[in-house]
Formats: sequence, structure tokens, C-alpha cells
Amino acid sequence: MIQNMPQYQSGFANEFATEGLPGALPEGRNSPQRAPYGLYAEQISGTAFTAPRHTNRRSWLYRIRPAAVHEPFVRAADRRWLSHFDEVPTPPNQLRWDPLPLPDEETDFVDGMVTMAGNAGCGIHLYAANRSMERRFFYNADGELLIVPQQGRLVLATELGVLEIEPQEIAVVPRGVRFQVRLPDGAARGYVCENFGALFRLPDLGVIGANGLANPRDFRTPVAAYEDREGDFELLAKFQGNFWSARIRHSPLDVVAWHGNYAPYKYDLRCFNTIGSISYDHPDPSIFLVLQAPSDTPGVDTIDFVIFPPRVLAMQDTFRPPWFHRNFASEFMGLIHGAYDAKAEGFVPGGASLHNCMSGHGPDADTFEKASRADTRQPHYITDTMAFMFETPAVIQPTRYALETAQLQPEYYRCWQGLQKNFDPTRR
Ligand SMILES: [Fe+2]
Repeated sequence: MIQNMPQYQSGFANEFATEGLPGALPEGRNSPQRAPYGLYAEQISGTAFTAPRHTNRRSWLYRIRPAAVHEPFVRAADRRWLSHFDEVPTPPNQLRWDPLPLPDEETDFVDGMVTMAGNAGCGIHLYAANRSMERRFFYNADGELLIVPQQGRLVLATELGVLEIEPQEIAVVPRGVRFQVRLPDGAARGYVCENFGALFRLPDLGVIGANGLANPRDFRTPVAAYEDREGDFELLAKFQGNFWSARIRHSPLDVVAWHGNYAPYKYDLRCFNTIGSISYDHPDPSIFLVLQAPSDTPGVDTIDFVIFPPRVLAMQDTFRPPWFHRNFASEFMGLIHGAYDAKAEGFVPGGASLHNCMSGHGPDADTFEKASRADTRQPHYITDTMAFMFETPAVIQPTRYALETAQLQPEYYRCWQGLQKNFDPTRR
């Protein structure tokens, strides 16, 4: 087992330098003729070599054995974790699901993953697991993983160090980084966004200024922590949507020191600096953007990770919940904690909803009635909540599983059917 308790360094994609043994980082050269302590030098690149400096991401690892040391991969069993989203035609219906049940049989993080939906830019998955990965290590060559726990802590033991996250925190494990998921609380459940495109980054702030939203100093990257452990282990890879398994005779978590800006990180969503209107109306939900995966089109992201945290609504003479809308974007939502302010019932922690491109949605009838009569001279304190959204410009196509599972709520559409006709041309 990894010796160290999680220890972190602050900042977002900084040029970190960390060593688990003093002097393990070579001075002056990335790849000296002989690295300290007999370590091997190895680079992991997360972007093209020639990417502009501000987007270029790579790290140098100083490890006991190079990543190449393992037996050949053979195809492993298919899982419910998919990378193709054309199994069934996508309905334009509003969709909502109850939480994924926790497994009865022993299930680890990878085996407990089930794909709900996706598109060319991302896969959207739920996980429900009850067993730590012990002899198995995993990496995903298809994209980075944004992990959003809803129940139970996760210990992410990675090549670059150990992260521990609890509900209302998130973690990102970069493409290719080998890791193991351990469950200190037993059962665990949550959401995952698998980002196939450009790496998540912090959004520019424009007129907001130098501070606000998710601040870089609240991101945490682990310090180097290695294990020197031999045995009979499995290295499981997700590559081109398929699973591949190789025998490996040592723990690949053997990086003694590393430096660079390509590394896992975590963030506590409760640190988010939420900004909103202090006069009337409210801004578009882009004001709640935590992380973005940019596309080649300026201003358009392949994925926006947005949260709806506790906040104070002060807007005067304004319908304060999210308004009725149809968007160009498609929206997959989850609820981590508490209640969501646009729905009176039916959207519970661990549940999910999907409102695709141009599908009408918004507050349910009960929420509309209540908010239409609220006294907006008084501030409204929304406490005890944490919802999030994976928003994409491409339609989010649900899998066959998502459309056929017993967790799908076929009666979801009814939440708007109680919206009465209030129109009266004689009464302004
Ligand atoms: Fe929406």
C-alpha cells in the first residue's frame, strides 16, 4: 500500500515539482544520463508536443520501472462502460432517472461504471461500487476523467500521488495516468464525465476581473507518493472504447518524484465563489462555470462543468428559479446533495436528468406557483444544496441502458402538465 497519507500542493496546472525521497528530482536536466537513486526518467504528455505554451501539458516522472514493463495486453470482458452512443435513436423527450442502486455483488469502481449518455466530446457515466481495487490498476487512454462523488469517499491512488475526495469535492484524473480507486467508506456512488477532447481548464473571467468562480489556489494536486511493491497484478486499460488487460509484476504506482503540469487534481465545490445578480433578472448559468473543455471555436466549449451551489437570491421583481427555456446546448444534470431549487420533487441526490438541444424544460408547476408569489423584497437563502451540469454543444445521446433501466422516470413529463393557462386578455 502507498505509505503516505494524501498531501497536496495548491494551484491549477502549475509547474509542480515534488519528490517522495529527498534529491530524487534531477537537477538541471529532465533526462540525465543517470537519474538519482537508480530511477528511470519518463515523460507523460497530455497535449501535442507543439501545443502553445499556455495549453501545453506534460510531466516528467522518476520511477522505479518504466511504464513499458508489463506483459502484452489481451482483450478483457466488455463492461457497461461504453464509448459509442448510437445504440438507439435519441428521443427529444425530457429524461430523468432515480439513483443507480448500489451493487449486491462485489464491484469495484471500473466494473461499477455504467454509461448513461455521451457524444463525440464526452461520455457520461454513473458508478456504484462497494469494493476497493486491490490487485488491479487502471488507466484510460480515451480521455481524462472528471469524477463527482455523491456518496462515500474515494481514495484515488495514482502514479503521481494520492487524492482523497468526498461528496461535494471533485477530482480529475488525466488521460493515461494509472490509478487505483479505494473505498474507505465501503459503498460509493457518483458521476463521471469522460472528456475526449481538450483538457479541462479554468475559464477566463473577462469583466469579472482577476478573482471569482473557482479560484486556482483552491485546486489541490498530490505530492509524490510511491510504493515499491512486487506481486501479481492486473493493468486494465480502456483504449478506443475497449477494455484490455495485462499482467504486471509490480505496482505501477512507483513514481518516486515528478515535475510538470500534467497531474491529477481535486477541488472542493464548496470553495466556489458564486456570482449573481444584485438588481433584477439573473445571468445565464454560464456564470456558474467551474471547468471548461474548450473547442476550436472561440467561446464554444465541448464540455462545460457547471454547479448550482448554495447562494443568496436578491433580485427584485424577478422570477428567481431558473426560467423556462430551450437551449442550443444539451444539459445532463446531477444532484450531489440536498434539493434543487427548480424542482419540488423527483430529482433526488444520486439522480440525473437530461434535457437535450431545444427540448423545453424549466421549473415544475409547484415551483412556478411558489416563486410567482414569493416576496422578492426579501433575499432568499438557498442552503443545503449542490447540483451540477455537464453541458455540451453536441446532443447528448442516451445509451440503451439509460432508456430501458428501471431507474428511468416515465412520468417525468407530468411535472409540467399542472402549469395552468393563466392568460386573460381583459386583465393586465
Ligand atoms: Fe436547462
